[in-house]
Amino acid sequence: MTQIKNIGVYTSGGDSPGMNAAIRAVVRTAIYYNLEVTGIRRGYDGMIKGDLFPMNRKSVSNIIGRGGTILKTARSEQFKTPEGRKLAHEQLLANGVDALVAIGGDGTFTGARIFGEEFDFPIVGLPGTIDNDLCGTDFTIGYDTAINTVINAVDKIRDTAESHDRLFIVEVMGRDSGLIALRTGIASGAEAILIPESKTDLAAVFERLESGRKDKSSKIIMVAESGEVSDAFEIGKQIKERFPQYDTRISILGHIQRGGRPSCMDRVLASRVGVAAVEGLMKGHRNEMVGLIHNQIAFTPFEHAIKHNIDINEDFLKIVEILSI
Ligand code: F6P
Repeated sequence: MTQIKNIGVYTSGGDSPGMNAAIRAVVRTAIYYNLEVTGIRRGYDGMIKGDLFPMNRKSVSNIIGRGGTILKTARSEQFKTPEGRKLAHEQLLANGVDALVAIGGDGTFTGARIFGEEFDFPIVGLPGTIDNDLCGTDFTIGYDTAINTVINAVDKIRDTAESHDRLFIVEVMGRDSGLIALRTGIASGAEAILIPESKTDLAAVFERLESGRKDKSSKIIMVAESGEVSDAFEIGKQIKERFPQYDTRISILGHIQRGGRPSCMDRVLASRVGVAAVEGLMKGHRNEMVGLIHNQIAFTPFEHAIKHNIDINEDFLKIVEILSI
C-alpha cells in the first residue's frame, strides 16, 4: 500500500446542508495527520478543468454552520465519458493529488466508482444529499436539515389552510425516493402520503378523503416529486374534480429544502464521517462510502451504497393512516 500524501476533496451533484461541515472535517483531519489537502471546485467539472487549489486549516474557518458548499458543485456530463475522466486524472496527477474524498449522492459515487477502478485511484465517499437515498448509512448529510425545513414550511401552510378550511397538496423533493415525504408527512399530520416506494395510489387517497372525517377544517396531502402520481398539479386537478367541496391549493416547496444552516445532527454526522474518511484512506479503504449504521462508522462499497433498494418502513405509512382519522 502506497502512502497517501495529498487528498483532494470535492462536492458534486445537488448540494445539501452540512456539506461545508464535511469539507471542514476532511481538511482539518488531513492537516492533523500531516497530509496535504487540495480543494476541487465544482465537482467533476472542476476536476476536468483543473480548478484545484491548496487548502489549509483557515480555508475552512467558520464554515461548519453555513449552508451550501464553499467548493461549489455541479453535475458533469463530460465526466461520464472516458475522455473526460482521462483529463480529470491528468489534472489530479499534475497537482500531486493521490487520493480523493467525494461528497455527494448516487451520481457522485457512480462517477467515483468508475474513476477509482479505471485509474486504480483511492476514493472514499461521504453521503451528502438531502434525499437520504443511499444504502450503508442510516442518514445522509443534509436530510435532517431538509426535513426540518419542510415541517417548518408545512406548519405555516397548516395555519393558513386551517383559517380558510383548505386542502393543500404539498410537493417535496426526492428525485428517486420518498423518504423526505414519508417523515415530514408524519411530522406534519398529513392525511396521506404519496411516495414512489409504496402502493398508495391516488385511488387510495380518494378513498381516505371520502371515508375520513368531514369536520376537519384543514387537510395536507404530502407528495414526493418522484412518485408515479407525482405531478402535484395533476393531483390537484383530479381532487378538485372529485371533491369540489374542498377548496384545494398546491404548494411546491422546491429548492428551499436544499438551503439553510445545517442542523446539529447534520454537522455532527458530517464531522464524524469526514474524520473517518481521511483515516479510512490512510488505512487503505477505497471505493467505499463512509456512513453511520446504528450510530457506528461503517464502510460500504460504492456499488452497494448506490443500489436504490432502500426498504420503506411500512409502519410509517400505517402510522399516517391511523393518526389521520
Ligand atoms: O438529489 C437532490 C435533489 O434535491 C433531488 O431531491 C431533486 O430531484 C434534485 O436534486 C433537483 O436537482 P436540481 O438542482 O438539478 O434542480
